[in-house]
Amino acid sequence: MATVDMIIAGLNACLTGNSNAIRSALDTMVAHEIKTGNHTVAAKFRSVLESHENQVISSTRRTYAAKKILRSDTPKGMSEQVVVHGIDSMTLEKCVLDVVLKMIKEHKNRERLQSYNLDPHHKILLIGPPGNGKTTLASRIAADLGVPFFSVNGDVLSSLMGETTKNIKEIFTYSAKAGGCVLFLDEFDAMGAERSGKHSDVGEAKRITAFLLTEIDALPSDVVMIAATNHQELLDRALWRRFQIKLELGMPSHEQATVFVSSTGKRHRVEFSPRQILRIVKHTKGKCIAEIEHVCIEIITDMAMSDKPDLEMSVEKIVGIMD
Ligand SMILES: Nc1ncnc2c1ncn2[C@@H]1O[C@H](COP(=O)(O)OP(=O)(O)OP(=O)(O)O)[C@@H](O)[C@H]1O
Ligand SMILES: [Mg+2]
Repeated sequence: MATVDMIIAGLNACLTGNSNAIRSALDTMVAHEIKTGNHTVAAKFRSVLESHENQVISSTRRTYAAKKILRSDTPKGMSEQVVVHGIDSMTLEKCVLDVVLKMIKEHKNRERLQSYNLDPHHKILLIGPPGNGKTTLASRIAADLGVPFFSVNGDVLSSLMGETTKNIKEIFTYSAKAGGCVLFLDEFDAMGAERSGKHSDVGEAKRITAFLLTEIDALPSDVVMIAATNHQELLDRALWRRFQIKLELGMPSHEQATVFVSSTGKRHRVEFSPRQILRIVKHTKGKCIAEIEHVCIEIITDMAMSDKPDLEMSVEKIVGIMD
């Protein structure tokens, strides 16, 4: 059972109302119970922790969650999501992280820039193969800025003449009115394909692109527009030029995969040994981060469900023995 020191730390955290300390005390208790084989007690502490975590969404994020309930009138093809986790829990290349943090800093200090007649960068293109974090990064930028995350999906596109531009107009107007948000345009190549592309109706594709250009140029700088594509070569060149920041989220390097496996384990209260990490990384070589995550989850699930949990055995079962 949890030691007296742990219980005292938990009680102190509750009495002072320090939510981070409450979470940390509960975390320590869960880890202690797992270590001493008391899985039932660990599960009980964990359920307290989870209900607590639902309540410690930061106050800004809670404000936006409240706003979301009021906003039931989102335009066609757009949805609002409340994001709790920030960028710090992602695995990103340092050069990518640096650019993103710089952009966030600009937004948080926008008055400084405005005193020089400058605006923060707010038009970002995320490029890269599936499953390496484009959508995740966009949503977590919103969380770190403490603003709503508006995500636009394929429903915005319509085969009816003029309907797509109408939907786009509504989305951009809505975002501008919201005053401070992240507008995420997923699969942007489908919306902003090269004007000379092989469209069934080239005229309509040209109109959509021209319309998008006008909307993007008029977008206020407190709307952070983030577009994502797996095929930047399909984008219209004029549209492509509008993005002030272009970031590539490529397949993970060996180092990135190593960090990711270790942090995924920790997120689920499992400490993979360096040798186990190496095995998982070798097994998933050439795979995207989402696939690496899937393998880690399979291992941890297998361990959690076995009567005699043994991490080594579960690693072996899922990824095999390393040669
Ligand atoms: N860099 C990363 N750091 C942490 N988790 C990641 C990262 N990349 C991917 N993931 C995990 O993989 C899942 C899928 O990633 P995500 O949907 O963001 O990829 P994507 O690049 O948007 O893919 P697609 O092109 O298919 O839309 C995420 O929910 C997250 O759990
Ligand atoms: Mg995506």
